[in-house]
Amino acid sequence: MIAMEEFLKEFGDYYGYPDGPKNIKEIRETEFKRLDKGVVYLDHAGSTLYSELQMENIFNDFTCNVYGNPHSQSDISSATSDLIADARHQVLEYFSASPEDYSCIFTSGATAALKLVGETFPWTQDSNFLYSMENHNSVLGIREYALGQGASACAVDVEEAANQPGQLASSGPFIKVKHRAVQKRNTSKLQKEETRGDAYNLFAFPSECNFTGLRFNLDLVKLMKENTETTLQGSPFAMSKRWMVLIDAAKGCATLPPNLSEYPADFVVVSFYKLFGYPTGLGALLVRNDAAKLLKKTYFSGGTVAASIADIDFVKRRERVEDFFEDGSASFLSIAAIRHGFKLLKSLTSSAIWMHTTSLSMYVKKKLQALRHGNGAVVCVLYGSENLKILSHKSGPTVTFNLKRPDGSWFGYLEVEKLASLSGIQLRTGCFCNPGACAKYLDLSHSDLLSNVEAGHICWDGNDLINGKPTGAVRVSFGYMSTFEEAKKFIDFIISSFVSPLKKIGNGIIVSGRFTQLPGEELESKESFPSYYLKSVTIYPIKSCAGFSVTRWPLCRTGLLHDREWMIQGLTGEILTQKKVPGMSLISTFIDLEEGLLSVESARCKDKLHIRIKTDSYNPRSHEFNSHANKVENHNEETRINCWFTDAIGRQCKLLRYSSSNSKHCLNRNKAPGLCRDLESNINFANEAQFLLISEESVADLNRRLEAKDEDDNQARKKLDPYRFRPNLVISGGEAYTEDKWRTLAIGDHHFTSLGGCNRCQMINISNEAGQVKKSNEPLTTLASYRRVKGKILFGTLLRYEIDAKTESWIRVGEEVNPDIE
Ligand SMILES: Cc1ncc(COP(=O)(O)O)c(C=O)c1O
Repeated sequence: MIAMEEFLKEFGDYYGYPDGPKNIKEIRETEFKRLDKGVVYLDHAGSTLYSELQMENIFNDFTCNVYGNPHSQSDISSATSDLIADARHQVLEYFSASPEDYSCIFTSGATAALKLVGETFPWTQDSNFLYSMENHNSVLGIREYALGQGASACAVDVEEAANQPGQLASSGPFIKVKHRAVQKRNTSKLQKEETRGDAYNLFAFPSECNFTGLRFNLDLVKLMKENTETTLQGSPFAMSKRWMVLIDAAKGCATLPPNLSEYPADFVVVSFYKLFGYPTGLGALLVRNDAAKLLKKTYFSGGTVAASIADIDFVKRRERVEDFFEDGSASFLSIAAIRHGFKLLKSLTSSAIWMHTTSLSMYVKKKLQALRHGNGAVVCVLYGSENLKILSHKSGPTVTFNLKRPDGSWFGYLEVEKLASLSGIQLRTGCFCNPGACAKYLDLSHSDLLSNVEAGHICWDGNDLINGKPTGAVRVSFGYMSTFEEAKKFIDFIISSFVSPLKKIGNGIIVSGRFTQLPGEELESKESFPSYYLKSVTIYPIKSCAGFSVTRWPLCRTGLLHDREWMIQGLTGEILTQKKVPGMSLISTFIDLEEGLLSVESARCKDKLHIRIKTDSYNPRSHEFNSHANKVENHNEETRINCWFTDAIGRQCKLLRYSSSNSKHCLNRNKAPGLCRDLESNINFANEAQFLLISEESVADLNRRLEAKDEDDNQARKKLDPYRFRPNLVISGGEAYTEDKWRTLAIGDHHFTSLGGCNRCQMINISNEAGQVKKSNEPLTTLASYRRVKGKILFGTLLRYEIDAKTESWIRVGEEVNPDIE
């Protein structure tokens, strides 16, 4: 409550739509009831959310009216055409663009609108394409058209000072555009054009950077068109004339659309899901009518043709701008839906949405900026947020940052995303398709970027830190329905998960706690006479299905014989796991070695399935991963097995068997280099290593922590048993987490090497209670609070079996476990 009061004291005039038809509380209670279920959605820069009322209105509209293809003369068609014309007006109105000056061309999104500009722009070898460093990949892609036609391309930095040196403050802001390296392709294959000095040039910038939220000064439009020489002073482009300006308003227009009557850009692009969440797959290009005349379109189609003759080179195109450019039938139902979104935005007003959303981003920025670890070190580095004045219009409702540990090292952004998701917070990480801004704000040089690519880093992968440096950042962004409570929950999450408080240790010295040491390190002294033994052995023949425990089992070169030797694959080739299909945990398995049979059972199937493993079962047959199917005896057998699994999991799938004969595959090895821990030995379909070992004592410690939490929260929960973690080997004895320090170990006569802790994911939050699959946030959330090491949440130890070729080995429950600690 105090936090709310503190917030309202500073931002009360801006927050919550005090003068609107509904205040924020009412909006949330009536139009976003689905968010009450604990989701904190903070990725409005990715896509904002539709309101339930908006969808109700669309549903009523569609179920009460008849809409048909507008390309005909019927009443229904012309009613649809009228609706589309109305929608165009609404879009133009939203940007204060007069229909005399501008046309609205519907596209499938902002990207398609940008592509249309790139494709049709009148490039010549004397043209220049300039674009601000902070641009989305969809803008950078225009470069391909420019360079392909022999034009030059160049990224620029837009710098703004309060006023020009030596000039009066009243003369307004001084904007300078500084160029980077000029790019030009070898054009020897292109026919040389005569230089006539009448080439058109294009300048592109976003109204709001989707990486930092920084807003560009829209005076740039006029400066580039009318005062090019001064604006581009010192660059090779300063003398170029005929500049056309493109504003990428995809992000910016959700909370503050550019006013085109004041800033007459030639092209503006937008996607409607960014404005009001629905529909997706619809955007628009707003184009100045005089600029549209210069665009060169090659393709014609139904929709854009007035007449054509099939067997000679004759075509007459439609003349109205939108008819000339909109190929095919318009997406008329999506277009019909946008008026319900605009109605909503209009009722709130753009300026109130701007104030509401920026009050939240300002609050979060200020809070993040003030965070300190117990040792005084800065927690958060914000990008592009130097200016923290709410009504400056310099910064949109986006906060982008990375977090640091007390020792100055970076937290990987994926760690933040993973923990946020456990707390029900949806945020975005990476470079947000804006490589220029990412490089600029993270200070990544060309050689950093190229070596990151060489190290295997691509967009959306798991490489969040390379050589200790972030490859991207964390972004939270607010929408018109975001609330203070959400912003506060986010800040509380950052504090509880990433800020290291002061902690007293034995000699009274105060150090910064958390995040720096391995939890096991504190236990060194307690471990004088440990005595460990093997408590259980479990085999999981089919990846992600239930396993079975035995008192003894053969070991082979892939680990436990038949462990993860099969997996289930979806129709499109994807590997099915409990993460996608939680019900897989309800499929039970058993192998009778003497009979050579794998038996599988599911409550969803009447009969048990028996699969012959073949008499040479100790040397599984050679079926390479990625081969077409599990080549069981014959086609009928294959169909029988696949039908059984399709019934058991409720979707089309097939069973695949792995060959352990001579390949060294590992799923993660194939999917993403670097994720598989054991690159040395043979493993079947296990993700990272042959064995997972879990200590009963470590599970008991975790249970104590969960119990303490439950007491605080006044709830009771069943104790976790070690099988929640899908171990192959459970050991008993010693102290919790001593296994963290083991380098090698012997179980009976068998030798194993530790490959380190197992990085846990959401799968351990899936439980199977009385035949029902349940999902919760635990135990991952609790583990995250004390078992995080370098971005990973570790629990259990991965092992490799050091096979002794001479002996046929069986591992037995009860055998002594002898670790070797280096
Ligand atoms: C600034 C910016 N430009 C362009 C795009 C591309 O938009 P769309 O994917 O809707 O085509 C986005 C989407 O995130 C964006 O934020």
